[in-house]
Amino acid sequence: MASSDFQSFLDEVVMRNDIVEIISGFTTLKRSGNNMMGLCPLHNDKKSPSLSVSPDKQIFHCFGCGAGGSVIQFVEAAMNLDFMDAVKYLADRAHMEMPSTRGGGDKQKQLMLSKKKERLYQINAMAARYYFDCLSKPEGKPGLDYLRERKLKNSTIKKFGIGYAPEGWTDLYDHLKAQGCAEGDMEDAGLIRRRQNGTYYDAFYDGRVVFPIIDVRGRVIAFGGRIIRDGTDAPKYWNTPETLIFKKKDNLFGLNLAKNDKSGRLLLMEGYMDVVALHQSGFGNAVASLGTAFTPEQARLVKRYAPRAVLCYDNDEAGIKATLRAGDILFDEGVKVRVLTVTDGKDPDEFIKNKGPDMFSVLIERSRPLIEYKIDGIREKYNLNDVDDKVDFTREVSEVLARIKDAAQREIYVGRLADELKISAAGIMAGVSDIELKNAETDQRCRESERLRRTMHRPLPEEKNVRGVYWAERFLLNLMCDERVIKKVLESGLTPDDFASEPAHKRLAELLISLAESGAVPEPSDIMGRCAPEDAGTVSDILINDKETKDKLLACAGPIGILVRAKEERQRLNAAQDDEQLRLLFEKKKNRKNATGGAK
Ligand code: CTP
Ligand code: MN
Repeated sequence: MASSDFQSFLDEVVMRNDIVEIISGFTTLKRSGNNMMGLCPLHNDKKSPSLSVSPDKQIFHCFGCGAGGSVIQFVEAAMNLDFMDAVKYLADRAHMEMPSTRGGGDKQKQLMLSKKKERLYQINAMAARYYFDCLSKPEGKPGLDYLRERKLKNSTIKKFGIGYAPEGWTDLYDHLKAQGCAEGDMEDAGLIRRRQNGTYYDAFYDGRVVFPIIDVRGRVIAFGGRIIRDGTDAPKYWNTPETLIFKKKDNLFGLNLAKNDKSGRLLLMEGYMDVVALHQSGFGNAVASLGTAFTPEQARLVKRYAPRAVLCYDNDEAGIKATLRAGDILFDEGVKVRVLTVTDGKDPDEFIKNKGPDMFSVLIERSRPLIEYKIDGIREKYNLNDVDDKVDFTREVSEVLARIKDAAQREIYVGRLADELKISAAGIMAGVSDIELKNAETDQRCRESERLRRTMHRPLPEEKNVRGVYWAERFLLNLMCDERVIKKVLESGLTPDDFASEPAHKRLAELLISLAESGAVPEPSDIMGRCAPEDAGTVSDILINDKETKDKLLACAGPIGILVRAKEERQRLNAAQDDEQLRLLFEKKKNRKNATGGAK
């Protein structure tokens, strides 16, 4: 959808959602002249109503917190939504269908993009085939030996499509070229890289076992390559960078296979090798995040396929840290998370090799719910026979419990803690609730300051003279909603640059003039919808009240005069500065001449 189409969609969303109706859902509005006033729900407005809403203009402005804008900006701020979600909310409310993409170009462009993606999938599939076939050729022997040494069966290698990229600069490149692939596509798939001189070389050139990363629809989207030679400085893994078809944060290695598992539980590993080893041992529900920190997107992906997850990260310091991070993310997404602790070997792959699959099943059975795992971790730091330690322990555990939103779950843990420490559950619960409240307040404050940072923007120039210009600009901008005033402004020789006391003023002037030039009558709600988000507070402040309803044409003469004089003043000053600079330059030259002349 072209961006102008999207703009008219937005206009319609605004038109179909009455701002007074929406805001009335949040606060009581009372009529006051042309506008409606009420306590502002966007800040802590308890005393005097500072929120002003204009039913005619369909905009709002708060004189207390400085927020303002159209109905979209109100919903953004009041419901803590981002722009697109606010639009979606309002569109739903008006029974309007959201357009499929925003400004994503026209149909032609979309088509080209999807064709390009299709080519990248194809090239990746060809590359995967090439790497796999390599294992059965002489040059693939080191790779095959390595996989054998890691105890992978042929069937496992085949199931995952694991392959080998031999040492060499252009093996894959030559192969794909011969198949008729375009260099640009190979490069965009992340398979080859371009040198300064315009020639290309393979991305996997130093002898790597290659794991294809396959999405849930069975398409090869990327590769992870493990080096097999010892003693090099090269990184152990090299992965495909982000491409048109590969967004690391949205994918999990092995999910293409694990999605068919029926256990309702996914096992989350750190490494590719762990996943492969587990599948080989009958754990078809193992997946891994892709060499990155676990993301909320991945948590949502997990949740789509299984309500429960077991974190099976390495049992070292980095692994424990990553466990806690991933655990919190999964927990917040509503996945029931348990943590498995590897007791023999550094990771699940080694454990299975040492102890066998049955013992790994025991580890799974012994895995602890995230909260329990965290509490156990905290307990290790304290001596619970010491009173001070006991107090600190209780406080730290309460922080953990305050994260639990489910009331029953929270009560269970509080009860257990009370039993263990022999103190009252009610006391612990009160402490937990306090922390929760404090956290909520902090969150709220963060959101509020973020919102203010976004919507409020109105520094007051100090100097008296400048201040006159400042108010003249605002007054005039208000009047400029009338196209006849814009005409007068242009006739007087003023340009947007002359609205100089604030960048937002200049941008608003530009917007108003361009709207008028395109023949549109600038409506305040349209203006709000087109101004920069960071200008919204300033613009709503300027537009909310009609400055002069009787005769705008007459009223604009004053501010235009002030701005024209300010402009002339600026020009004189600039000219004078130029003169002054010329004079100084001249003086310097003369002095130099005198100095050299004197020396002779
Ligand atoms: N990883 C990465 N880049 C690196 C190191 C690691 O992307 N330079 C990612 C890989 O996805 C890897 C995972 O982090 O699988 C875990 O790393 P590690 O435990 O070092 O590797 P393993 O998969 O266990 O490999 P191996 O058993 O062969 O040592
Ligand atoms: Mn490993």
